Amino acid sequence: MHYSSCILAIESSCDDTSVAVIRGHRVLSNIVANQAVHMNFGGVVPELASRAHAQNIVPTLEVALEKAGVMPEELDAVAYTQGPGLMGSLHVGVAFAKAWAFGIGKPTIPVHHMHAHILAHFLEPGPPPKLPFLCLTVSGGHTQLVQVNAPLQMTVLGTTRDDAAGEAFDKMAKLMGLPYPGGPEIDKLAAEGDPDSFSFTRPSVEGLDMSFSGLKTQILHFLQREMRTNPSFIEERKNDISASVQNAILGILLSKLEDAVRLTGIQEVAIAGGVSANRGLREALEVRRDELGWTVHIPPIEHCTDNAAMIAMTGAIYFESGIRGKITDAPNPRLHF
Ligand code: KG4
Ligand code: ZN
Repeated sequence: MHYSSCILAIESSCDDTSVAVIRGHRVLSNIVANQAVHMNFGGVVPELASRAHAQNIVPTLEVALEKAGVMPEELDAVAYTQGPGLMGSLHVGVAFAKAWAFGIGKPTIPVHHMHAHILAHFLEPGPPPKLPFLCLTVSGGHTQLVQVNAPLQMTVLGTTRDDAAGEAFDKMAKLMGLPYPGGPEIDKLAAEGDPDSFSFTRPSVEGLDMSFSGLKTQILHFLQREMRTNPSFIEERKNDISASVQNAILGILLSKLEDAVRLTGIQEVAIAGGVSANRGLREALEVRRDELGWTVHIPPIEHCTDNAAMIAMTGAIYFESGIRGKITDAPNPRLHF
């Protein structure tokens, strides 16, 4: 599978404004404007996110084009995230992408954000996974075990029944008083802690579905209990608590991933989404490569968290399959997988 189109893409589904330009599988630029404004609120404030997108989108596009050294007339199409995501945030990217593409006379390609996390594996440096492969997609809003038979043919084998894995990291971090987003904070603290310090029971959920909300309640009660006897417990043991919490979340993800490998017989395994930046998860996959003989695909960090390069790669795949957007295409916060 080889793709060669030149695509500019816009991603604005949540709190980062990103614009990328790719040619074929090569990323020419991938600019991400992070929104610091949410830091003070312990989570993303949708209205502030859409305002920041509106401010950032034009300068981000200008930097992306300049860094790529590409003129608008060289582009084959303009791809953008149609959903899922926050309505106001999506609106800014969708309206801007359609207007800008119309202005330069190029077609648009609406892209599914979760397909894009997976298809980021087709970007260089690669090599891309061989088909069929399994992908554990773990982000702030979604947790899915997906069987990819072809880039345009994917089936969800399992999903979370409540919180997403990234959301679980963020909520546990909040319980510990860590800043938002908590995933990277727990990752950092866990590196210096012992994952076996505290153990939590794993929820039993049928099939390949998962659940994280019971773990959150367990950890809340555990922290409250410990803090009653020692008010400095979290501060004194933050590394061990982080390592144990991370171990519990990864335990749920990895046991389901192992079940999926066993059930499908597919040993070509990829991870995607913001949580795939987690060092513990990356190392756990390497262990399974070495010990179980899996072929593992671990994306570079900049392709894990939200970025427009993955939207561009998906745009190229859609474009070369003949898919074209319409001027009437609208953002869809609950876009069907
Ligand atoms: O894919 P993403 O950037 O945005 C969504 O589409 O949701 O994922 C964001 C999520 C957040 O919950 C964040 O805490 C988590 O990914 N995350 C991490 C790490 N980096 C980002 N979780 C654990 N360890 C990390 N290193
Ligand atoms: Zn995402």
